[in-house]
Amino acid sequence: MYTTNKNTIPKLLSSTEYKKNTRRSTAMGELDPAFIQDTDQRPNLEISDAFDDEFPIIDFSSAPGDVVLQIGQACKDWGFFQVVNHGVPLELLAKVEDLGRRFFALSAEEKRKVKRDEVNAMGYHDGENTKNVRDWKEVFDFLVEDRTAIPASLEPDDQELRILINQWPLHPPEFREVCQEYAREVEKLAYKLSELIAQSLGLPKSRLNGFFKGQTSLVRLNYYPPCPFPDLALGVGRHKDASALTILAQDSVGGLQIRRKSDHQWVPVKPTPNAFIINVGDAVQVWSNDKYESVEHRVVVNSVKERFSVPFFFFPGHQVMLKPLEEILNGDSPRYREYNWGKFLATRNRSDFKKQAVENIQISHVRIEQK
Ligand code: OGA
Ligand code: NI
Repeated sequence: MYTTNKNTIPKLLSSTEYKKNTRRSTAMGELDPAFIQDTDQRPNLEISDAFDDEFPIIDFSSAPGDVVLQIGQACKDWGFFQVVNHGVPLELLAKVEDLGRRFFALSAEEKRKVKRDEVNAMGYHDGENTKNVRDWKEVFDFLVEDRTAIPASLEPDDQELRILINQWPLHPPEFREVCQEYAREVEKLAYKLSELIAQSLGLPKSRLNGFFKGQTSLVRLNYYPPCPFPDLALGVGRHKDASALTILAQDSVGGLQIRRKSDHQWVPVKPTPNAFIINVGDAVQVWSNDKYESVEHRVVVNSVKERFSVPFFFFPGHQVMLKPLEEILNGDSPRYREYNWGKFLATRNRSDFKKQAVENIQISHVRIEQK
């Protein structure tokens, strides 16, 4: 993945000429220009340990009323928070990390046996682009519900569905079982969070739960190898999660940065042992009519250490139509037009399908300008 072959430079460069000129050569080798971020996107490595002590950490063993208040405040001020005493067994977290590392340590040939392709979007992948620059990472994706239905095409009126199926490696042998158990446990936390978020918005506890019937949720194992050019490449380029919410487990290395709402600066999130990092995604932003915003984030890589992280993306069922909730509006005008989750997801994942001339969709494309 990380060797350079001058004949296979990908075509998806945003400023090709510029990148050619900045091709870096050192004793450690050359960096494939496909990984080089535009100058305005490159990380400032000096801030990597400038943690913000205000970043919320919420203890789920506190009084329930306090937890709701803290979640509401964190969602408004940060769009991100950490949770401790979340109920997911810590031994399970440790097992997933261990098995994940063992999977990514397999030979490229072994990993390619479960590579995702045009037909199956699940499994191993090493060439993801965020905003058309290649991410310095390898991933393994699996569905929380094996055999998940999503739209077969992007055509708005085409009702045909296709079924996504998980692919599992034979090694390490316990990999499948542990991953599935992990998904079940984190799913419980996802529902709990969805209830707390609903309550924090003044809604009945179970108001959002129905949207996850036939959920298209996904767990991703992210492996970020050491990168000799951490000043030029990113593990994941800046993006917002399309999910309702994301539940991220990460090891102790650090690298996640979020765009702080108060001043729009990039700030690193301090790894907290046994905690999950939670962020509200685009779906919650739409349901809450911008009361809670989905915040931009990215991953900085490390020249010495590899890093491992596991996001659980809590996604609605494909049939769900997303729009601001009536009870939230309470007379205000909706800031988003209704859109179908399945088509939105299929559009986001369009490279897994037949090539289509569609721009990568964002909720800003369904935003209604306010007068
Ligand atoms: C993601 C993501 C963060 C991380 O996969 O969407 O933001 O720390 N990952 O790996
Ligand atoms: Ni993300």
